Amino acid sequence: MNIKSENMAKVQIVDLAAHYNAIKNEIDEAVMRVLSSGYFVLGPNVKSFEGELSAYLGVKHVVSCANGTDAITLSLMSLGIKQGDEVITPSHSFFATSESIALVGATPVFVDIKEDDFNIDIEKIEALINKKTKAIIPVHIYGQPCNIDKIVEIAKKHNLFIVEDCAQAIGAKLNNKCVGTFGDIGTLSFFPTKNLGAFGDGGAVITNNDELAAKLRQLRVHGSSVRYVHDVIGLNSRLDEIQAAILSVQLKYLNQWNEKRLEAALYYNELFEGFEQVTTPVIKPDRKHIFHQYTIKTKNRNLLCEKLKERNIESIIYYPIPIHQQKAFSHLNQNYDLPVTEKISKEILSLPIYPEITKDIQQYVVKNVKEILS
Ligand SMILES: Cc1ncc(COP(=O)(O)O)c(C=O)c1O
Repeated sequence: MNIKSENMAKVQIVDLAAHYNAIKNEIDEAVMRVLSSGYFVLGPNVKSFEGELSAYLGVKHVVSCANGTDAITLSLMSLGIKQGDEVITPSHSFFATSESIALVGATPVFVDIKEDDFNIDIEKIEALINKKTKAIIPVHIYGQPCNIDKIVEIAKKHNLFIVEDCAQAIGAKLNNKCVGTFGDIGTLSFFPTKNLGAFGDGGAVITNNDELAAKLRQLRVHGSSVRYVHDVIGLNSRLDEIQAAILSVQLKYLNQWNEKRLEAALYYNELFEGFEQVTTPVIKPDRKHIFHQYTIKTKNRNLLCEKLKERNIESIIYYPIPIHQQKAFSHLNQNYDLPVTEKISKEILSLPIYPEITKDIQQYVVKNVKEILS
């Protein structure tokens, strides 16, 4: 969309149609091949996609599954996390991170975040550890790697598992190493709006541990390693062949797309330079941020969000209600001390970002943000 003129169409938060159109022929061909193969679930495309993704991430095993929520649930099941156990995780995330903990019967214990990058505050983890604590689930929020190297040290000291929620951070790196490969397990989501998105649901668990990988393969098909023989209770959580074929095509473009998102983020930062009503995202030198979201902070967030909507510009609040304040967890009754999480939930707003976004669109978005807030 060229939007030099003032009479423009809607600015979308992501443009999935533009994304598809850029590689339409390759995608169509891959889908048609699956349709004529007659093989639709956990077949050759799933196997090759898992192999390609493990090479891309530099990890030994990729176990694909039905979605990113199942990926976390399966991970916790494979680690034997159960009722009575506690898992430390940020309240500032998509609900699924903590929902998965509850699904295996364990209790999420919420930790606060840092205001500069919205990621888990490593200084606040150890105070929450007790005899019931079994694992930490850090989230690499918005595509920015958290201080996962430091979390590994804390986990080793206290003998805890780490499941890295990388749903928003595929290809993000800390010290040149992909997130998801620092802890025991990493989890991915291929929800369509993700940096690597399927045309439906999809997810994956990644690990360097052979034993965990074998367990995960069993758990994703009803706890079965041999057909109709069930050793444990599992899930039905499989990736289908069409999604795997589509993901294989897209994986070839992922680095290029992540670079374009980074370029777009840098351009937004440049356009906002000197405009004090908006705080732009930090880019830390030792890590590769893949900008799943471009999230700003402003004191007038609600006004900005409403007025952008009136001007046909989409923006999203990721997330308006912290998980510890959700009704679904009201029974937990923990003594919360999450001032940063609560503060930023009132100030954050994510602006349109996707690989195909043009400078014209970004200029238009920023011009409108400035007009509204000035
Ligand atoms: C941080 C985070 N964790 C988990 C999930 C769950 O993934 P899915 O929607 O594929 O179940 C998402 C997806 O939105 C997410 O952003």
